[in-house]
Amino acid sequence: MDFNLTEEQLMIRDAARDFAQNELLPGVIERDEKQQFPAEQIKKMGELGFLGMMVDPKYGGSGLDTISYVLAMEEISKIDASASVVMSVNNSLVCWGLETFGTEEQKQKYLVPLATGEIIGAFCLSEPEAGSDATSQRTTAIDKGDYYLLNGTKNWITNGNNASVYLIIAQTDVEKGHKGINAFIVEKGMEGFVVGPKENKLGIRGSDTHSLMFTDVKVPKENRIGEDGFGFKFAMKTLAGGRIGIASQALGIAAGAYELALKYSKERKAFGTEISNHQAIAFKLADMATQIEAARHLCIKAAWDKDQHQNYDLSGAMAKLYAAETAMSVTVEAVQIHGGYGFVKEYHVERLMRDAKITQIYEGTSEIQKIVISRSVLRD
Ligand code: CAA
Repeated sequence: MDFNLTEEQLMIRDAARDFAQNELLPGVIERDEKQQFPAEQIKKMGELGFLGMMVDPKYGGSGLDTISYVLAMEEISKIDASASVVMSVNNSLVCWGLETFGTEEQKQKYLVPLATGEIIGAFCLSEPEAGSDATSQRTTAIDKGDYYLLNGTKNWITNGNNASVYLIIAQTDVEKGHKGINAFIVEKGMEGFVVGPKENKLGIRGSDTHSLMFTDVKVPKENRIGEDGFGFKFAMKTLAGGRIGIASQALGIAAGAYELALKYSKERKAFGTEISNHQAIAFKLADMATQIEAARHLCIKAAWDKDQHQNYDLSGAMAKLYAAETAMSVTVEAVQIHGGYGFVKEYHVERLMRDAKITQIYEGTSEIQKIVISRSVLRD
């Protein structure tokens, strides 16, 4: 077994680290405070190939493996989780979903501009009454021959206003339960499609989260993804990979907070010595480093499973569960190590602590990951 990263993987990690330091760090506090979408930075990420990392170059992507994606997600998330959620949704949910299940026409029309970062996409499953219980979709898409008539509301949609292309999950036949669900490609600007107000969030405040309203939107038949009734499986399969992206985001948030706490502990003096010399602090750092390393291994293992074309439902859920719990506990400790300074914005750790919380909620709460994991271990 070889734990070494390849030259190419190391190069990608370093490129992401440099980009985060040089382009994301300046202004990250202000963007968080003003809830400002990192538009310029996302454009540059697209130019550098970070928005379609695993997409085949023939569709405008970078053609990299999932491990490279995990490494890049960690580095970007250490500095700016609002930028990395855009990256994760575009790569894992939108591009992967279209590349894996879209028709050639759909790929040419939508995947190419998404993978190059010319536009960004959104993945729309959650509804006011269907969050964790994803089969209970109330949004309907009625077959009218040449088109589907889409009606309903989606909630908490990442990239809600800045996206140009939306993958919408909707019920086409209530009688059939989850087998009567389909996924559709909807373009911004289609008549009857309205973006609701922006959510004022605890964390990842630079990302734009909106509800979306659809009233008699005519979605062309050719915009359905996959066979009739494939929508729920499409969502589940896509989310399984998305969880590797969010696990890596959580890992990055934890690692970013840990690095700041480690540095601070070697500089700050109390009771006549650097605080890192006090066992109360040193033991916290030991716990944090161990949790982060375990989370990193889980993320890389899930990515490796995906790259080897093995099932990654279980490893992805484990990575997401553990990395999200790690992000929360490590960021709380990082604030504690900083003492009063940790509670003010200039030191970054309070933002990372707020950002960590969403990783336990989106793309399946920690409890959802435990459902996936327990079903798997009980079945085997
Ligand atoms: N791959 C393929 N098929 C799958 C699957 C997977 N990973 N998981 C489930 N399925 C299939 C099942 O096989 C089943 O099909 P059959 O009947 O043909 O066998 C069907 O889907 C229904 O499965 P379940 O009976 O297991 O469904 P369930 O109602 O018990 O729900 C669940 C399972 C895991 C709880 C699921 O509802 C779930 O993942 N919920 C969480 C939803 C979620 O993650 N939402 C996040 C929103 S997106 C987001 O946050 C993006 C963002 O903006 C950042």
